[in-house]
Amino acid sequence: MIRRMTADDLAEIDRLEKILFTSPWPQSAYEYEMNGNPFGNPSVLEEDGEIIGYCDWWIMYEHAEIATIGVKPDKRRMGYAQMMLDHIVADAEKNGCETLSLEVRVSNDPAIRLYEKNGFIQVNIRKHYYDDNGEDAYLMVKPLGGNYDDDAAGN
Ligand SMILES: CC(C)(COP(=O)(O)OP(=O)(O)OC[C@H]1O[C@@H](n2cnc3c(N)ncnc32)[C@H](O)[C@@H]1OP(=O)(O)O)[C@@H](O)C(=O)NCCC(=O)NCCS
Repeated sequence: MIRRMTADDLAEIDRLEKILFTSPWPQSAYEYEMNGNPFGNPSVLEEDGEIIGYCDWWIMYEHAEIATIGVKPDKRRMGYAQMMLDHIVADAEKNGCETLSLEVRVSNDPAIRLYEKNGFIQVNIRKHYYDDNGEDAYLMVKPLGGNYDDDAAGN
């Protein structure tokens, strides 16, 4: 089950974040995503009460962006990231988004494979994107089936 992140999840997310990422987000970043960011969709993938993975994406009018996605080390290669990605794509398309983008470390082969398998294309390199080691990021974009309607959005 994929559901919205709540305050009760924050301690476990904080613990996992430090295991999954070399530049972990502080807990305050997730609090902002839950309570302050109007574009944010912080979510967890839960099974039998256990958080297996989590993700966050921003729906910004005609464009969506994956802010983060991660799966517990002992639950990898079991399709959980794919499940979250499918959920994100469906939500972005439901909201009329035409593109879905993300940044990924150039060394992060598992994630790059996941994105390429899902139709993301490398469109640029963001030089020295990551503060911890100065690593570059690939900017990857996936065209979506959404058809954004400015009038329906009240713009
Ligand atoms: C990247 C990550 C989210 C993938 O999660 P996962 O649940 O293991 O991925 P899935 O099982 O859904 O894999 C889906 C597809 O992605 C690709 N993939 C995933 N991990 C891979 C790996 N280690 N090597 C090669 N391909 C891989 C494969 O094509 C896979 O399909 P397959 O298993 O049928 O071959 C996970 O490795 C992770 O949490 N990494 C640390 C955090 C991170 O780097 N997040 C991404 C930041 S941009």
